[in-house]
Amino acid sequence: MLTVSAPGKLMLMGEHAVVYGYPCIVTAVSERLSVSIEETQDEKITIDAPQVKDTRFVDQAIIEGCKAWNITHHGLRLTTHSNFSNCYGFGSSSAVTVATLYAIATLFKQSLDTKMLFDLAYQTVLAIQGVGSGFDIAAAIYGGTIVYTKGGKILDQLAWDLNNDVSLVVGYTGMKADTPTIVKEIAKKKEEQPERVNRIFEAIAKLVMQAKTAGDKKDWETVGKFMNFNQEYLRDLGVSTEKLEVMIHAANKAGAYGAKLSGAGGGDCMIALTLTEKKKIIEQAIISVGGIVVPVSIHTEGVRIEQ
Ligand code: PMV
Repeated sequence: MLTVSAPGKLMLMGEHAVVYGYPCIVTAVSERLSVSIEETQDEKITIDAPQVKDTRFVDQAIIEGCKAWNITHHGLRLTTHSNFSNCYGFGSSSAVTVATLYAIATLFKQSLDTKMLFDLAYQTVLAIQGVGSGFDIAAAIYGGTIVYTKGGKILDQLAWDLNNDVSLVVGYTGMKADTPTIVKEIAKKKEEQPERVNRIFEAIAKLVMQAKTAGDKKDWETVGKFMNFNQEYLRDLGVSTEKLEVMIHAANKAGAYGAKLSGAGGGDCMIALTLTEKKKIIEQAIISVGGIVVPVSIHTEGVRIEQ
C-alpha cells in the first residue's frame, strides 16, 4: 500500500483577479488529505473517500492519470484520510486530485515532473467544476507560499514565515460559499462592466506585487495595509458579506496589521495578519463578533509520499 498526501490552501491576496491572468499569493496549510492506493485483481476501481465532498475528482484523476501514462491495471483500491474540516473551504478537492495523480504515477513507476502533474490535475479539476485558476492545485503541489498566475506559472516561491514573529489568524464566518457560482457571477459582472472590473483587477494585481516586495523585506505593517486595500477592491467587486466585514473590522480594531476575506467570498473565511504577541487578542475579537477561529498553520510542505 502506498500513501501520498497533499496540503490544502489559503488565498492570501489576489483572488478573482487570478482567474483572469493576474498574480495571486497563496499558501499551503497544515490540513492535509492522504490517498492510499493499491492494485487489486478484481477488475474494479473501489474508492472509499468519506472526507471528500465530491468523489468525481478522484474518478476523473484516475481516468486522466491512466490515460496520460498508458496504465493498464486489474483493479485499484483507493482510500482517503484527512485532518481537513470540509466546511472551511481549504481545498480538499484540489488536494485529493493532486494526491491521487501523484499516487498513481508512483505506484506504476511513472516519471513525474511537477509541470505535468499540474497540467493533469488542472485538467481534472476543470473537467469537474468548469472554472478556476488552478491556484489551489499549485499550492497542493509546491507547498510553501507562492506567487502564482493561471496556467501553472509560479512567479516566485516566498520565504515568508508567518508562523513566528507574525501570525495569520483565520476566522470562519459559519457560512459556506460556492466558489464556482461566485466566479461565474464575477464573469457576468466583467461582461457587463468590463472597464470597471478590469480596473479593479489591475489594482489588485499591483497590490499583490507590492505586498510581495514588502513581505520579502519583512515589512508586515505594509503587507497588512495592502491586505486592507485588497479587501476594499473585493468589497467593490461585491463578494464581501456583512459577516465578513464585521469580522475584518473587529480584527483591525483589535490591532491587526490588516485583514481581508480569503477565497471567493460570499462567506467562508477571512484572514488577519498580526504580530504574534497580539494573536490571542485578534482571535478574541473575531470570536466576540460571532466568528469561528480556525487553528491552522501555513507555509507547509507540498505533495509528498507518506509511506
Ligand atoms: O473560494 P476558494 O478558497 O476556493 O478561492 C477561490 C479563489 C478564486 O480566485 C475566486 C477562484 C480561483 O480559482 O482562483
